[in-house]
Amino acid sequence: MTASEKNKKIALTGDRPTGHLHLGHFVGSLQNRLKIQEDCEQLVMVADVQALTDNADNPDKVRSNVLEVAIDNLAVGIDPEKTTFFIQSQIPEIAELTVFFLNLVTLSRLERNPTVKNEMRQKKYEGNVPVGFLCYPVSQSADILAFRASLVPVGEDQLPMIEQANEIVHKFNATYGDVFEKITPIVSSAPRLMGLDGKAKMSKSLGNAILLSDAPEIIRKKVMQMFTDPNHIHKNDPGEIEGNVVFDYLSIFDPQKEELENIKSAYKKGGVGDIEIKDRLVKILNDTLQPIREKRKDYEKNKDKVMEILIEGGKKARKITEKTMFEVKKAMKIDY
Ligand code: TRP
Repeated sequence: MTASEKNKKIALTGDRPTGHLHLGHFVGSLQNRLKIQEDCEQLVMVADVQALTDNADNPDKVRSNVLEVAIDNLAVGIDPEKTTFFIQSQIPEIAELTVFFLNLVTLSRLERNPTVKNEMRQKKYEGNVPVGFLCYPVSQSADILAFRASLVPVGEDQLPMIEQANEIVHKFNATYGDVFEKITPIVSSAPRLMGLDGKAKMSKSLGNAILLSDAPEIIRKKVMQMFTDPNHIHKNDPGEIEGNVVFDYLSIFDPQKEELENIKSAYKKGGVGDIEIKDRLVKILNDTLQPIREKRKDYEKNKDKVMEILIEGGKKARKITEKTMFEVKKAMKIDY
């Protein structure tokens, strides 16, 4: 480790390997990661253990998506020379730390976690939630604390996980002595990207996402399906911008802000067709995604190289977690 690395803050974040990453990830977290890797010691984890908590019966899905998620990150420019990539299950200390943390959290506290509650409703678990799934916020706390990361770039929906982790920090330190420091979440300032249907946030499982790996003709098809203003039937009808998914995306991705403002006022007055604004968005999205798709193709041809990045990163990452466990066990008086 160089002197400058020693002074850098550690930032850790992760993705569940359950599908390709989409534009919502790009706006909400990947762009943040590009910045963070310049200033911090950044770790990006492919959270296969967490993915298995609600995909226990589908190991093939998780396995195949480990590389896909890593490639999505690499393709947007997260640089393995600057960022340490690794696979969660390669770090057994995380599982070990999770077991110790489980003693510091109550069942009722876990049942109150709003993000988990929401996911349980979506997955229709009713009374049959897997224990591993209910406990994943504890395991996620271990993901972060095993590396003594102080910064965690996340989406809004992950804030309850950071709150849980900070409660564990407090309880652990109060019980066994000061070992951990508080964690600060970094929430992206970018507005949350709506799904194609305009109903909810973009999510692959809801089928309303544009994937970073989508081919140009798929992008066109998806943009053409986008929800606009249902009352804007003819080109000359006045149209609504508010809740209009196409304008939502243009506001984020269109580089010509002034021109966009003019189009918006013309659309409001009447005279601009939906196809016109959709064509504009297709072009802009393809311009954004083209370099990412090209880099993706290179990595797809070199999957062995991607796996090597993950394995080598894991070896480096494990050095940190081994040291943490040494201190944890000493504090807990199980350092035989
Ligand atoms: N729960 C996160 C998600 O669904 C993924 C994740 C796992 C994570 N471990 C993490 C994020 C640690 C930040 C820190 O997107």
